[in-house]
Amino acid sequence: MRLLLLLFYTFSAISCTSSTEDQRVECLPGTDKNSCTALGCIWEPTESPAPNCYLPPQYGYSTLSDLYEIENGMAIDLEKSTSISMFDGDFEKVTVSFVHMSENLLRIKMEPVDEKRYQVPITILGSEEPPTTMNYEYQITKDPVFSFKVVRKSTGTVLFDTSLGGLTLADQFLQLAVQLSSSNIYGFGEQEQPSLRHDMNWKTWGMFARDHAPEGDANLYGVHPYYMNVEPDGNTHGVLFLNSNAQEVTMTPAPGLVYRTIGGILDIYIYLGPTPEKVVGQYTASLGRYEPPPFWALGFHLCRWGYNSVANMKAAWQRTLDSGIPFDVQWGDIDYMDRALDFTYNPTDFQELPAFVDELHEKGMKFVPILDPCISTGEPAGSYPPFDEGNTQDIWVKDASGNPLMAKVWPADYCHFPDFFTSKTEDWWLNQLANFYSTIKYDGIWIDMNEPANFVTGSVDGCQENKWNNPPYKPKTDGGDSLLDKTICMDATQSEGIHYDVHSMFGWSEARATNRALREITGKRPFIISRSTFVGSGKYTGHWLGDNWSEWDNMHFSIIGMLQFNHFGMPLVGADICGFIGNTTEELCARWHQLGAFYPFSRNHNLLESIDQDPGVWGLDSIVARAARNALKTKYALLPYLYSLFYKSYNEGGTVARPLWHEFVTDQEALGIDTQFLLGPAVMVSPILDQGKTKRNVYLPGGENTVWYDAYTFERFSAAMKILEVTSDLNNPEDSTPLHIRGGYILPVQDPAGNTAQQRETRTLNLFGYLDSEEKGTGEVYLDDGESMDLTLYTHVKFMVNPGKMDFEVVQDAYTDAMNWKIDYIRLAGISQNIDKVEINGEAAIFTYNPEYQILDILPENFMITGANSITWTSSASHQQSP
Ligand code: GLC
Repeated sequence: MRLLLLLFYTFSAISCTSSTEDQRVECLPGTDKNSCTALGCIWEPTESPAPNCYLPPQYGYSTLSDLYEIENGMAIDLEKSTSISMFDGDFEKVTVSFVHMSENLLRIKMEPVDEKRYQVPITILGSEEPPTTMNYEYQITKDPVFSFKVVRKSTGTVLFDTSLGGLTLADQFLQLAVQLSSSNIYGFGEQEQPSLRHDMNWKTWGMFARDHAPEGDANLYGVHPYYMNVEPDGNTHGVLFLNSNAQEVTMTPAPGLVYRTIGGILDIYIYLGPTPEKVVGQYTASLGRYEPPPFWALGFHLCRWGYNSVANMKAAWQRTLDSGIPFDVQWGDIDYMDRALDFTYNPTDFQELPAFVDELHEKGMKFVPILDPCISTGEPAGSYPPFDEGNTQDIWVKDASGNPLMAKVWPADYCHFPDFFTSKTEDWWLNQLANFYSTIKYDGIWIDMNEPANFVTGSVDGCQENKWNNPPYKPKTDGGDSLLDKTICMDATQSEGIHYDVHSMFGWSEARATNRALREITGKRPFIISRSTFVGSGKYTGHWLGDNWSEWDNMHFSIIGMLQFNHFGMPLVGADICGFIGNTTEELCARWHQLGAFYPFSRNHNLLESIDQDPGVWGLDSIVARAARNALKTKYALLPYLYSLFYKSYNEGGTVARPLWHEFVTDQEALGIDTQFLLGPAVMVSPILDQGKTKRNVYLPGGENTVWYDAYTFERFSAAMKILEVTSDLNNPEDSTPLHIRGGYILPVQDPAGNTAQQRETRTLNLFGYLDSEEKGTGEVYLDDGESMDLTLYTHVKFMVNPGKMDFEVVQDAYTDAMNWKIDYIRLAGISQNIDKVEINGEAAIFTYNPEYQILDILPENFMITGANSITWTSSASHQQSP
């Protein structure tokens, strides 16, 4: 037994605390020499951004035991070892447990002995059976204080090392400093980060759900204390700090991080990967995965705040249709409502809304309205069921006195927030949504202002002075020195606990309730977009990046945000195309459609006061209409590929939109690239992001044998050339987003139509194969009806090209209509020998071969996707060789 345990962990007694500036952990609130030394900390002023006042190496916890066995793991008992107390309330005795959740998932939990602390009510799933082997081990250091290292067994790489010191476990201040395996670290949200890879120069990011337009380093709508770290050899791991209190992280040059939160416990999950996509897959498997969205959700969405009438909404919609832009979904913002009251519509200006929604449906299009969580209290008794029934059901968030907390949002009168943590609130929400559905047959729901956002600080009645509303330490969150700014009192109560603990989960709980309601009401796969999100929100909702600005740099930031939310397990994400705040320009709006068409979630949306920016308003043949039309036609052509990526991400894990380094993790240059991105493994998008530019450099990731194709011309480039200059000139009527396809991939595509319903009706796919340097390629497609809740009813077909042949494998065939889907056209690029004969299932087939472009085009007849198909081709050269 002892031998077995030694495999799990090893002891080491090496002290590795270093006093170099990069490794300091700040001592708080030791802001000057006197307060610093009075606390017992070390004062050493420095020119660098490192803290002047830092914790001594003896600070932390000493061990009271050796590691001992617990169910599925080991634990160790600790005792506080110094008299320094930064904020009081330190836990004197603590247990640290190492729980083997699966062979690739280790949980490390630090809790005070004999005290129940708030814990996030989300179950993180490990393997069904306790793992018998683990790909990690952990090592305990006892001197000068307790620290631990988590090591990847196969390589010996240290993934997570707490020997930087600074471990603090107190009532309202918990801190852990971590030495990282490299400075290639990505994640922590939600903020508008200017680069996907973190700046390690003592940069601090706050995390606390907040209604705040993305700017600077403000903490935004959601909270995702999760990062991915690429190890020096390219293996990758992910780390989650499961905590919902106000928190922050400082990135340090060690390279390291200092994580701080003001409540709950330190509950850490380490995902071993080892590939970036596997890390995401393990993360989402443990939290619950984003289900494939309804097929139409991947189409183009149009919205604005301030149509102010059905007539204006219809005009923008009509302009978009008239411009020949593929278009699926019209949205309604709060101006469709009667006086901003949820579940109503304006009886005069939007009188025709239900009829318009019916018209949309007749055309195969969809409608998505907004809902805000705060329910107006000001309507005459008996006249507004959402409020009356909410009162009867007693579902409101309560203030410290036990009365429903009074807030102010869009309605003229004050409002109450529902406490979405209880099932009675979920039932009430379902009821309201069901009644609303009987008036307007919406197809999805947009949930906004759910941080929760409040226009008065705390509540209309203020908040009490206490340790929740005025904690001793406030992380670097926006709103001055108050946590209450733009939200509700921290001592408000919800069924799950005090708002202080659950604040950042408001949006999560509302998304869960909305997801349940939409399933029951529509009987279809729900479509939800939420502004506030938390760890695990991907199980219930998609996300848009909030109130961005109509400014050029915001396009770049949107790529970073989109990639981060894919890391967070929320692949249906995009930013407001053309920008939300401020007036866009024609050029910016054109470029933004070229980029935004390739967001998984493509929506043009706009602020109340801003000029119209729908793609048709600039003139039906303006650069904006053209850019939108060309880019969205390409997106619609790619929809079978994109939709298949969502299925794959749900079934097997992984992202939809991903950074270049996910596919080329040992390519050092790729680790820093965030002005280009990939959709799946194969489609690389490199938009023009700068004003006045018509050219840009595209980085071609990969090794000497990697080839990339221009998606439109099929021109082939070797990754060995590394940088390719591309042109995208808006004045060229054919201009579109620079796109490259990675050699070795076969994409299922369709001819683009006006909307996804029309496009699907053709039941026809084309296959575009971009072969690698060995003339091989693979691809796959998932087909289903695009809306059923039963996610087993799909057909999955794989295709493989090897020199001289293409094979098809039907992996699963559970979508009954798949038998009617056929392949009309197959193009294979990268075939070097002159082809003079093609056979499909043994019969001669129609084809052309273009030797200049090395393209083989095959036109099969009645080629059904689920058949046991095989295609062969031969060249005159090979005839001569084979007698
Ligand atoms: C919030 C949303 C924005 C919406 C507005 C009015 O600012 O983020 O998208 O248009 O509220 O509902």
